[in-house]
Amino acid sequence: MSVQSDIRRLTAPDIRARKGGEPIVMLTSYHAHTAAIADKHCDVILVGDSLGMVMHGLETTVPVTLDMMILQGLAVMRGSRRALVVVDMPFGSYEASKEQAFMSAARVLKETGCGAVKLEGGKRMADTIRFLVERGVPVMAHVGLTPQSINTIGSFRAQGRDEADWGPIEQDAIAVSQAGAFSVVIEAVAEPLARRLTGAVPIPTVGIGASSACDGQVLVMEDMLGLSPRVPKFVKRYGDLGPGIDKAIADYAAEVRSRAFPGPQHVYPMKATKT
Ligand code: KIV
Repeated sequence: MSVQSDIRRLTAPDIRARKGGEPIVMLTSYHAHTAAIADKHCDVILVGDSLGMVMHGLETTVPVTLDMMILQGLAVMRGSRRALVVVDMPFGSYEASKEQAFMSAARVLKETGCGAVKLEGGKRMADTIRFLVERGVPVMAHVGLTPQSINTIGSFRAQGRDEADWGPIEQDAIAVSQAGAFSVVIEAVAEPLARRLTGAVPIPTVGIGASSACDGQVLVMEDMLGLSPRVPKFVKRYGDLGPGIDKAIADYAAEVRSRAFPGPQHVYPMKATKT
């Protein structure tokens, strides 16, 4: 008897084939319940290492561990059925060597069941990407602003706003594409550069703060739902859930204090006694 679901999950090759076609919709999720909702609308769910900042209140993504990514990746896989789930490789889990990257990526794929990993870096990561892809690990690359490098770049600043700075970023995008990445996230770059990168590589570009010139878009779910206190300029808030949650919790607290909750409908009645 087959134990396979009758819903086919999108794969890395499916996303790779979307170059220049219908825009790819990608959104982060770190939990089963939000993954189930995102799954209805998105092609790719990213378990981003932004979970360090969003879920854990960290200042940067640097302290995020492989175990944190695997735990949340597993939750997202349980909640979703159709979208390709991509799990971020956190800082320190892949940069030391190709072998280290493979061991970390293999843990992510085996322990979560996800369909691909994402890692940051262009030219400098090309050999690693090639090594992973040759060994059965689909890789989404990430160039432009790479938040894991915050301690060397100094701030989360948009990239390529000066045409003189375009060369290395274009070389990064070409290098990861030639190394076998099935797609590349382009973060926080000026619109003309995003257009140029999208034209320069045969794989889909997925933009975050990189304009509609890309082949798809990604946002952090909590940012677009209005739950994050501070968001970058490129975020559009599609919801404002913060005040709704605030009101619901305030109402709950008031009703507990006034003993209005729980009401009779929320308590278990006694069994009828036999006479
Ligand atoms: O960690 C993350 O959420 C990301 C997106 C910003 C692309 O890498």
